[in-house]
Amino acid sequence: MARIIAGVGTSHTPAIGAAVDNGKVAEPYWAPLFKGYEPAKAWMARTRPDVVIMVYNDHVNAFDFKIIPTFALGCADEFPIADEGWGPRPVPPVKGYPQLAAHLVQSLVLDEFDITIVNEMQVDHGLTVPMTLLYGTPQAWPCRVIPLAVNVIQYPAPTGHRCYMLGKAIAKAVESWNEDLNVVIFGTGGMSHQIQGPRAGLVNTPFDQAFLDGLSRDPERLVRIQPLEYLREAGAEAIELVMWLIMRGALGEKVEEVHRFYHVPASSTAVGNIILESR
Ligand code: DHB
Ligand code: FE
Repeated sequence: MARIIAGVGTSHTPAIGAAVDNGKVAEPYWAPLFKGYEPAKAWMARTRPDVVIMVYNDHVNAFDFKIIPTFALGCADEFPIADEGWGPRPVPPVKGYPQLAAHLVQSLVLDEFDITIVNEMQVDHGLTVPMTLLYGTPQAWPCRVIPLAVNVIQYPAPTGHRCYMLGKAIAKAVESWNEDLNVVIFGTGGMSHQIQGPRAGLVNTPFDQAFLDGLSRDPERLVRIQPLEYLREAGAEAIELVMWLIMRGALGEKVEEVHRFYHVPASSTAVGNIILESR
């Protein structure tokens, strides 16, 4: 049986990828951030999941404004790295798992989640930066990755409750796959940030810390946060945090928080990282 053994929440700030790709990790601005991710990297090196389900959002790279799926599951063999305007990041291509992805789609649709099947897709910083933060800079990624792209770019984004319920359905789908696999699910984006307009640069640390506490101890509270509340309290782009609730929903009731890190600033973003193991 396949099983979800843990969840990772992490920001995906594009400047973090640029810092790694351009050799700036030891610079004073970046050093504390990368030091803060060392325990998470060590955890990943010990845990070595067979498959990562990467819940992330595309930033108008794979999808333009012609078609905007709410939940899109990557069913391809391989996902090339998107060119976001300065060339594709120099990271390995992302290998998928089409058979398991097809099984997830089947189980989720029969469970009444209307998933868009994506057979060809480039992946942007939303996916590659979390990979870099947890795996560093290997020649090839040591696991297969199933991307789940969530629309948090164009109003309306799905509610936190919908995301949480989808996470539960993902766990059920994984558990009905008859192969001995360890799966880690990521929820990415956030934490508080606003990257445009008069409030650009907004960070709400108490909101972020309470969100991290809630993931660990009271996810039902987080599920009640309404979309406008994310925007008002923690900035327009904080809506990305609903993706962390898919991750949390997939873990079941009992979790143990094994790592937490929080850091400001990184570009316009408050960076958060949490690791929860299923118990
Ligand atoms: C920034 C953060 C994001 O999540 C993103 O997608 C783009 C930019 C930033 O902090 O600059
Ligand atoms: Fe983003």
